[in-house]
This record gives sequence, structure tokens and C-alpha cells, in this order.
Amino acid sequence: MGIIADKTFHFHLFTEETSYLMEVSGSGDLVHTYWGKRIHSPPQGAWFNPVEVASFSPNPYASDKRISYDTMPREFPDFGRSDYSSSAIEITDPESGSHIVNPIFKSYTIVPAKPPLSGLPAVYTENDSDAQTLIITLKDEKLNLEFYLYYTVFSDFNVITRHTAVRNFSKHSIRIEKILSCTIDFLSDANFEMLHLHGAYSRECRPARISLGSCSHRVESRRGASSHEQNPFIALVRPETNQFSGEVYSMSLIYSGSFLAEVSVNCYEKTRMQIGLHPDDFSWELKSGELFTAPEAVLVFSESGINGMSAKYHSLYKNRLCRGPWKHAPRPILINNWEATYFDFDENKIIQLMDAGAELGAELFVLDDGWFGERNSDAVSLGDWTVNTEKLPHGLRDLSDHAHERGLLFGLWMEPEMISPGSRLYAEHPDWCLHAPGRHRSLGRNQLVIDLSRKTVENYLFDTISAIIKENGVDYIKWDMNRNITEAGSTAYSCNQQGEISHRYILGLYSLLDRLTRAFPEVLFESCAGGGGRFDPGMLFYTPQIWTSDATDAHERLKIQWGTSFIYPQLVMGAHVSAIPNHQIHRAASLDTRVRMSMSANFGIELDVTKLTVEEKEKIAHESEVYKEHRLLFQYGQLYRIEDPFVSDRGVWIIISEDLKTAAVFCFQQLAVPNSLEKRVRLRYLDPDSEYLLSDGKRYYGDTLMNYGLEIPKMESDFDSVIFLLKRADG
Ligand code: GLA
Repeated sequence: MGIIADKTFHFHLFTEETSYLMEVSGSGDLVHTYWGKRIHSPPQGAWFNPVEVASFSPNPYASDKRISYDTMPREFPDFGRSDYSSSAIEITDPESGSHIVNPIFKSYTIVPAKPPLSGLPAVYTENDSDAQTLIITLKDEKLNLEFYLYYTVFSDFNVITRHTAVRNFSKHSIRIEKILSCTIDFLSDANFEMLHLHGAYSRECRPARISLGSCSHRVESRRGASSHEQNPFIALVRPETNQFSGEVYSMSLIYSGSFLAEVSVNCYEKTRMQIGLHPDDFSWELKSGELFTAPEAVLVFSESGINGMSAKYHSLYKNRLCRGPWKHAPRPILINNWEATYFDFDENKIIQLMDAGAELGAELFVLDDGWFGERNSDAVSLGDWTVNTEKLPHGLRDLSDHAHERGLLFGLWMEPEMISPGSRLYAEHPDWCLHAPGRHRSLGRNQLVIDLSRKTVENYLFDTISAIIKENGVDYIKWDMNRNITEAGSTAYSCNQQGEISHRYILGLYSLLDRLTRAFPEVLFESCAGGGGRFDPGMLFYTPQIWTSDATDAHERLKIQWGTSFIYPQLVMGAHVSAIPNHQIHRAASLDTRVRMSMSANFGIELDVTKLTVEEKEKIAHESEVYKEHRLLFQYGQLYRIEDPFVSDRGVWIIISEDLKTAAVFCFQQLAVPNSLEKRVRLRYLDPDSEYLLSDGKRYYGDTLMNYGLEIPKMESDFDSVIFLLKRADG
């Protein structure tokens, strides 16, 4: 049911559409032989490509001088024994100081479903028939270490997950210098481009493609967070691959800290693709008997283009990564006061916003930054999580009660991972921030990072946050994180362990989130890191919504949501209607366009609704009703990208229900083009033989819409937009 292993250690992992093949060489190397479209018979030994004449390709085995790691495609490449491409594992031998590792095949086992990764977020199974897991054990005899390579095959989702663990059976501590989660070698095949998602604060997830050439390329974060700069994802695509067709080989890492994804092409055109913990921001002292587990990588192969890849990630992440009662629940329309008030509010203002929001159809009120301590600017009070009674004299409970009386859920912003240098908490515990003794403590947004590698700090935050939730009837938490890590040290650990702190920080964060989400399963957590600074699958495991970007301008959002949707479903992307001129970029998109952009993801409102005109209020109220009526389609339908805003003067995507009976087409003009005509858009993914009723009253067959195309009315001004709702005539 997904894994076949024979007596000579040939492994065939297969899903409905994909095959992944490995075998053990005579020398005990675990050899990767194929990953791609499902095939029948594994070509055993086909990897063997002798290089006996090349003295610059050394031979790791005296018995066969034709074998070289330059040409052998490897599953778990080591360092120092003639594999000159980037390694997956490096260990310091305490006796010799050497970094050499020699992991040789020992055994394998196949288990139903999937063992959880202790302390780490991971894709999960719901029953034994969901998946099967192959665990291959490799051993380094000299170091007395065992390595466990996990491969879980989710046949129905067409996904394979991989991760790596190592146990120390020696009497000494050893130091792991590098341990990646997944390596794939493509033998004699460098006909690829590398696809990645790069960005910055307020302009996250820009897709980029580069040709590989004959060298290495790194996509990485050393920021202690997955980062705005690069998403923890890479793909190799064929030059001809587009959104609709062509091969894609991709890896997405379920991790929220520093990561490395690397692609390198060697002199024999062997292409190596890898992902895992960033070795520059990681080392780990593994004591005798201990096990270390590296994060999980999710592998998706698609031969139906980038949309095909995205659909697989969306489905898996919605169904086997997100958890809890909110996983399948309609997500509430929220109203957030941040861009309405920033720090400048009082109780009265908040109540006015709540009341006005309720009238517009909002279902959740979120009180953003500024409700605690003396927080009137971003320079103070993080860590002092007690209500500011000057602003809110009746406290949070009163506000929460008011929200509940108005039929709204009540949500609260917190930034638990941070501490302001002037806070009471910092005065009491100056060692509770990440720092290196004798070094300056670098500030970011005027704040320091709390030391979540310490259990005491984690416990303190668990108690503090739990009390706030319980005492105030909190239904939602916006979990923010507004700077990256510096001086990643902790005085709670020995000198030898300082290289562990970045990873221990993330483990502490995961542990805290795990405890909170278990203690308060009904609370909806939305994570945020100045927008998309930690928009990654690791956070999704705990927080089934993520604030996509602080850029709320609809035009910017067209690009950001386009790119984010490469991996993440629109269900998990927070998208709010904000004021014009836009606060970040001073653009002015129409209210229609701002609403449509938000409706095509997880809809919210973030502006001073008390200042809207009557017409504007009526429009938002009406659109909220439309959103609620079609919410399951908008939130849970499959989004496919149709027309690329980085190439075209407009961007188009379609959201289609699983049964293909309903769909919504969103078309966003960028800059208007003078003297232009109406332009059709050829839709995709509809049922060709069904007739669809359109919201403008017309009827067309799916094949007409997909081949002749849908007429898009001429859009006269910049940032115009149009939405069509489609319903199958028989439906
Ligand atoms: C970050 C978030 C914003 C807002 C502010 C509050 O920038 O991304 O949405 O919550 O913090 O300080």
C-alpha cells in the first residue's frame, strides 16, 4: 500500500502518481535511484555510472575502483569521504576531532501510519490506512551512532515526507554540526530551474526562477525565523514548466527557524537538492544514549505544473497539518483595530469599533497591540501583560463581555516571545532574554527576544497566557513576533551548548504553543511575524491562520497572496480590508477591489469603520453577507492561479469547490491600459461538459470557458477588479 521492499533491499515508495526508488549498493551505501512520475519496475543498478579513469573522483571502496560519490546518487551524503557536494550530515568525533561520518545500511522496517516527531510539528495520519512509513537504519560503526531515515508515503495525497534522526550509542557525547532533513540527487540531470519564494517585510513571497548553471544555489534564513526573506521551500522545475503543465520537484520544510535549502550541480551534472536546519545557526551536543530528531520535509512531485504542486500542498496542509476544532470550521470574519487606531485608543473607541463592526457583519473583534502595561508606542511594556487601566478602566473582561453580547467573539493581540528593556519583567529577570555575556544586546523594534530555550520562561508564559485567556473569555489570540534573533545565547546552558540555542528556542516555542493549543482547543490562534515573517508549515501546525503581510494595499496583496498560494491554501491567509490612502504604500484601490482581495482569502476588516460613509458601510455589510453565503467555497475551495500578475497587467485566480459545482473567478487589474479592449481569460479546472450559470446571468459550458474563455469587462481605472461566481446549472 505505498511501500515495496525486496530481499535485496530495493525500495519502491509509490503514491497514485509518484514513484520514489532507492537501493542499497554492495558497499552498503543507500543509493537514490528515482523520484518522479509513477513507474512500474525499478531499474535496479541503473545508477551505476563508472568513473574509473578520473583520479580526481576518489574511490571510497578499495574493492571497486569504479565507484565514486561524484556519480553515485545518495540519500544521506556524508562529509569527508569523497562526496564533494554538500553533505546532509557532519559530526565531530570527540576522540579525533574529525568530521568524518560513514553511515552504512544496517536494516529497515515498515510501519503503518506515521510515528509523530517528538517536540516538532509534522504532518500526521488520522488512521492506519492514511500512510505507511519506511524507517531505514544506517550505522557508523566507529562513532557508534545510528541514523534513522524516515519516509512516509501518503498515497492519496500524493506526498512523501522525510526526516532524519540520530541516536548516540557510544559512551561519549558527540557534536552534530549539520543534519539536514532531506537530500535528493538527480543523476545526470541538470535541466532544471530553481523556484523559490523570496521577499522582505511587507513584500513577502515573490516567486523567482533561476537557471541552475553549474554551481550551487542557497535559499536560506539565518534569522532564527523562517523569515520574510525566504520561505522554507524550494522546487526544481523544467524550463518549460508553467502553472498548468510540466514537472515540479519540490520540498517544503515544517520548521519555523533558520533553515537551508540548497541546490548544486556537480561536474557530472548530478543535481543535488536539500533542505533542513541551517548548519550555520546550529550545532548539538548529543550525549550518550540520546536521540536527536531533525524537522520534517514534505516532498511533492507534480507533472501538472506549479498549480498541480500547490493543490497537493494545500490539500495536505489543510487536512493533515492544521489541527483542532478550527481545522474544518468556517473561519469568522474579523475586525481588528490596529490600522484604525494604532496605539491611540480608549475603551470608548474600542466599543464603537466593536458595535460598528458587528453591524458590518464581523464575527470576531480583535484588540491589537497597546492594551497592556504602558504600551503607547512600540518601545515599551512587552512582557508586562497586565491591562492598561488608563485606556481600558473596566479591563478586558468588560470588553470581552461587550463583544459577546454583540454576538462577536473576542480576540487579543500578544507578542509573548518578546521583552522590552524597560519592562518590569526585564527589571526582574534581565537574564530572560537571549544574549551572550559581555556582548551588546542588539535591539530590533526596540525589543529583545525572550529566552524560550529556558523551561522556566516557557512555564511562565504558559501560566500568564492561560490566565489571560481564562479570566477574560478570550476566543482568539493573534500571536505576533516582531524581530529576528541576535546574540542567540542563553546563560541557562553550558558553553558547549551555545550552538543549540536557536533551535532550542524554536523547540521551546513549539512546546509552549502545543501546551496552549491543547489547554484551549477552542481558541483560534493566528500567528504573525510583522505579517509573513514566519509564514511556514511549522507555525500552521499550531496556528491554523497566519497574517499574510503587514502590506494591506490590495495591489501589493495581489502579488503577496499569489506567491503565498504556491504552498499555502487561502484558508490560512489573513487578508483585511484597510483604509485608503493605504497606510503602507499610499495607494488608493476602490473599496470593491479591497473587499474582493480579502474575500479571496480569509476575510477581515482593519480600518476605522466608524468613519465610513453610509454607502461604504452598506457595501461592506452586503459583501460580508455574500462572503458568509459562499464562505465554504472561498475558504475551503481549491485555488488555482490563472494569470500571473508578475507578467500580465492583471492577475487572475479561480477558487473551485471539490465537486466542481461552484467556483469564483477573481480578476484584478493592475495599472489600467489606455486604448485597450476587453480581454478574455481562459479558465481552467472546470468540468468541461457541465453548463455553468454565471453571476452576470450568462451561461456557458465549462469547455467554452476554458477554451474560448470568459469575457472580462474592460477595466477603466488602476486597480479595478471583477469577481464572477459560477454555479453548475445542474447543481
Ligand atoms: C506587527 C503586526 C501588525 C500589528 C503590529 C502591532 O507589525 O504585523 O499587524 O499587530 O505588529 O504592533
